[in-house]
Amino acid sequence: MTGVVEVAAASPVRTADLSMVVADTALLCQDIRQVVLKPADGARLPSFTPGSHIAVTWQAGHRNAYSLTGPAIEPDHYSISVRRDRNGNGGSRWVHALSVGDTISVSRPRSAFAPVPNARHHVLVAGGIGVTPILSHVRAAVQWSRSFEVVYSFRAGFGAHYDELVDLCGERLTVVETPDEFWAHMTPALTRQTMGTHLYTCGPAAMIDAVTEAATRLGWPAQRLHSEPFSSAVSAAGEPFTARLTRTGTTVSVGGQQSLLDAILGAGVAVPNLCRQGVCGECRIGVHAGSIDHRDLFLTDEEKADGDAMMPCVSRAAGAEVVLDL
Ligand code: FES
Repeated sequence: MTGVVEVAAASPVRTADLSMVVADTALLCQDIRQVVLKPADGARLPSFTPGSHIAVTWQAGHRNAYSLTGPAIEPDHYSISVRRDRNGNGGSRWVHALSVGDTISVSRPRSAFAPVPNARHHVLVAGGIGVTPILSHVRAAVQWSRSFEVVYSFRAGFGAHYDELVDLCGERLTVVETPDEFWAHMTPALTRQTMGTHLYTCGPAAMIDAVTEAATRLGWPAQRLHSEPFSSAVSAAGEPFTARLTRTGTTVSVGGQQSLLDAILGAGVAVPNLCRQGVCGECRIGVHAGSIDHRDLFLTDEEKADGDAMMPCVSRAAGAEVVLDL
């Protein structure tokens, strides 16, 4: 078996969202709350790939994606740890107001930040609440006896899951609290890595950019660099434009305060979607013509430059019209 966990074949077939009950909550540190969820019907939960997330419905039509931090194989619960974002869309504040016994709806786990099973060594870098998918990677690395090391950067007093990481990692964990400490460790760590090492970074976009840039400068190929940003909700607002859907023969007007995804769904055309934050990749659609204002964090720079795909939950036309493969 590879390190990538498959959904248990014997699990009941569940394609819809999961109904979950809040079984426990804990304040891990200031503004970061852990919520433990158990299935409302007592059924088995799907296993998941390390680094997976679930999308929590916190209001009709509004979902936020949160990484799963607990055990991945045949879990009896899902755990998420959510930082209260006072400037966010309201989803994190809703999570912080949940009580034990509340029933909520979540998506099945989705993988967008999986470990590479045949990597010789894994360098896992977490910034702040970016520790959540890294913790999931660490559990799997320990379970499968993989070679790994962790760098965890956080402000004093904000180290969610620190004790757990110490237990799991021992000397493989390095904790830093300042940018100087971070680079004093990271520069030699990136320099000494051998062929077959993969680098995973989760944290603020600026941190990911800096780590990616440093690794690239030191000769790391792009296929060994993996990242998952944590950012406030991206605005999908902008200038109005028109979307022409070639397969359905529909033309959709997209208002200035409306996302392209909402406009398409409002026209009765189905588009799979999950995070609505430009992170999960679920809503990807093909583009036949028109310039795109890419705002997502999913497509690579090369894919954005190709201009033949976009994520309509956050990205928009850069001109008056975009022609879509829908
Ligand atoms: S719904 Fe997740 S990227 Fe659009």
